[in-house]
Amino acid sequence: MKTKALILAAGQGTRMKSEQSKVLHKVFDKALVEYPILAAKHVGVQEICMIIGHKAEEVQKALGNTVSYVLQKEQLGTGHAVMQAIDFIDEDGEVLILYGDTPLITGETLEKMINFHRTNKNGATVLSAVVDDPSGYGRIVRDKAHKFTKIVEQKDATDTEKQIPEINGGMYVFEAALLKYALSQLTNNNVQKEYYLTDTLEILLAKGHKVDAVPSESVEDILGVNSREQLAEVTDIMKQRINSKHMVQGVTLVDPQNTYIGSSVVIGRDTVIEPGCILEGNTQIGEACRIGYHSKIKNTTIGNHVDIEISVITDSFIDEGTHVGPFAYLRPHSHIGKNIKIGDFVEIKNATIGDGTKVSHLTYIGDADVGKGVNFGCGTVVVNYDGEKKHRTTVKDNAFIGCNTNLVAPVIVEEGAYTAAGSTITRTVPKDSLAIARAKQENKEEWVTKKRKK
Ligand code: UD1
Ligand code: CA
Repeated sequence: MKTKALILAAGQGTRMKSEQSKVLHKVFDKALVEYPILAAKHVGVQEICMIIGHKAEEVQKALGNTVSYVLQKEQLGTGHAVMQAIDFIDEDGEVLILYGDTPLITGETLEKMINFHRTNKNGATVLSAVVDDPSGYGRIVRDKAHKFTKIVEQKDATDTEKQIPEINGGMYVFEAALLKYALSQLTNNNVQKEYYLTDTLEILLAKGHKVDAVPSESVEDILGVNSREQLAEVTDIMKQRINSKHMVQGVTLVDPQNTYIGSSVVIGRDTVIEPGCILEGNTQIGEACRIGYHSKIKNTTIGNHVDIEISVITDSFIDEGTHVGPFAYLRPHSHIGKNIKIGDFVEIKNATIGDGTKVSHLTYIGDADVGKGVNFGCGTVVVNYDGEKKHRTTVKDNAFIGCNTNLVAPVIVEEGAYTAAGSTITRTVPKDSLAIARAKQENKEEWVTKKRKK
């Protein structure tokens, strides 16, 4: 069965009080709208069309060509929004309709709705929820036999209808051809003078098609974000969901309230995540690691038994048994091997570090290939930039870089070679030799004594 998805995201989001499009506000590492996209993909949707309007260009720029777009120039209601995508809707298959501002919707919930829809051979199925405070939402109206009859908006509802606790969550699955037909019949004959998508359900019922509402097991799934407070609320729920998933799978979170893990992060068993950590993007962490307090790690793959403390790591790879930090900064394309020590105030960028190497403190290594068993003394700088271009540096296996060495790229330190502390190395250092590149010490005896006498 071919299922396409439409995501409604043309609304203005006035209550956010923001210059940015509402659906681009973030819950952890992803924009609000990325979550319904992921949920749709979870149920096998391949083609997604976004209805954009307010700040359309910004949304399009952020999401690129992962989805297609149609523009809704004026926001004349949810039904009007869907009408704009009429060419995207086929004559067969199903159409899933989601909102761009409800990030807690899960693939599992959509799956249940779609299964319910298919099992009952419905023409349309809407996701509902039974809530304590239904105010503001459309209400699901059912007859005495509890059969779905229609959805009535708060503003159009009678006092009795306003008492109904079952609300419209705003997510639907339609038989594509029936949606097309129902859209052609929509009017804006209501209090808000809007084209209500909800009216399509009554239209299909009147034509003799099966239409039903299926309550979501989790009310949270349909929570929308309209304000900064709701953004924080939804973020908190997302955090609890993600964190408990990891704990169930055998990860220790020392303080789950203060641990921020993006929804795509993978963590191995017996890894301990200490308070204040932020793990983002496509990060994968191995087993039995310790991710120490206040580390921020993004798009990075980490092997087993890695120990990290208060460090920032982006787009990198760290192999097993390695120690990083405290206060290390691993910038993009740092490839750190096994059993390495990267100590305090070390910055690494676009560099490979071989197994067993020690970079213990106060060192910058950029655009370099470092072999195995190398020792970097304190305060080494790889001088990779000449003001115009970046150049690469090579340090081969078992070399020993003395404290405060400058390695002026492009330069090679051959296997087993030493550099004397304080050297500025500009030429190849041959294998197993010592390079001393600093001014010789001169002692002016009694110089201070004479100065004092003056
Ligand atoms: C709609 C439903 C209501 C439901 C509620 C759930 C209708 C008529 N009502 O309410 O029954 O309980 O959602 O949250 O459908 N949008 C557009 N273009 C428009 C109008 C809206 O793209 O012209 C988008 C908004 O950006 C938003 C979503 O549709 O993502 C819902 O719009 P919103 O105004 O919040 O929903 P309501 O119409 O109040
Ligand atoms: Ca509205």
